[in-house]
Amino acid sequence: MKIIITKDYEELSAKAAKVMLEVVKDNPYAVLGLATGTTPLGLYAHMIADHEKHGTSYAHIRTVNLDEYKGLAKTHPQSYAYFMRKNLFDGLGIDPENTNIENGMAADEAKECARYDALLEQLPRDLQLLGLGSNGHIAFNEPGTPFSSGTHVVTLAESTVKDNARLFDDISEVPRKAFTMGIKQIMQAKKILILASGANKADAVCKMVKGEVTEAVPASVLQLHPDCILIADREAAAKL
Ligand code: GLP
Repeated sequence: MKIIITKDYEELSAKAAKVMLEVVKDNPYAVLGLATGTTPLGLYAHMIADHEKHGTSYAHIRTVNLDEYKGLAKTHPQSYAYFMRKNLFDGLGIDPENTNIENGMAADEAKECARYDALLEQLPRDLQLLGLGSNGHIAFNEPGTPFSSGTHVVTLAESTVKDNARLFDDISEVPRKAFTMGIKQIMQAKKILILASGANKADAVCKMVKGEVTEAVPASVLQLHPDCILIADREAAAKL
């Protein structure tokens, strides 16, 4: 794993944008695996600023997202589909037809997971962007998820519900279940870019980088990826 430590969140976002834009400029038909959460917001702002200033084209870029809350429609303001439109896709002018995310409203879970698995087979990711859960999760693959997993429905860890409650009016509104891309599929990406910011990620960063590769710390699997870059700010890297 290549590790880049930055002085702050702004530098993290700028460095992440450099990695992302290299992929997009190299291959205008690239498939990007994208993530939600607060961490990638700075990167997304840089991508939009670059698109506006330099006209970097997203006309042929296709995207696949990691995860979606179960029970939230794509129009729901807390859904990840809505988050992506608002924070990235609208700003880049990406055709919604070229974007993919699990359908949180799918009545048949197994069928929806199979649909997403098939889609991921057809869309090998040139770059997979990841955030890091404070408990070491990637996407919504919580501790204990087999490394061989494909798309599945998870019951969120209590710590994840608490972490994500800040984005809802009340913790009772946080969905307890979600669809998530599996670890096997995350590892299939040609390149992985994982971002971590803030002191509450320091333990998870340390375990991911220096700890044993174990399903108890899902992000530790990234030690096995041939082209994974971690960009962490000083606070998140404090225990390395
Ligand atoms: C959620 C998402 C993850 C994300 C994590 C960290 O649980 N499913 O994909 O990485 O939150 O979020 P944040 O960047 O807000 O700390």
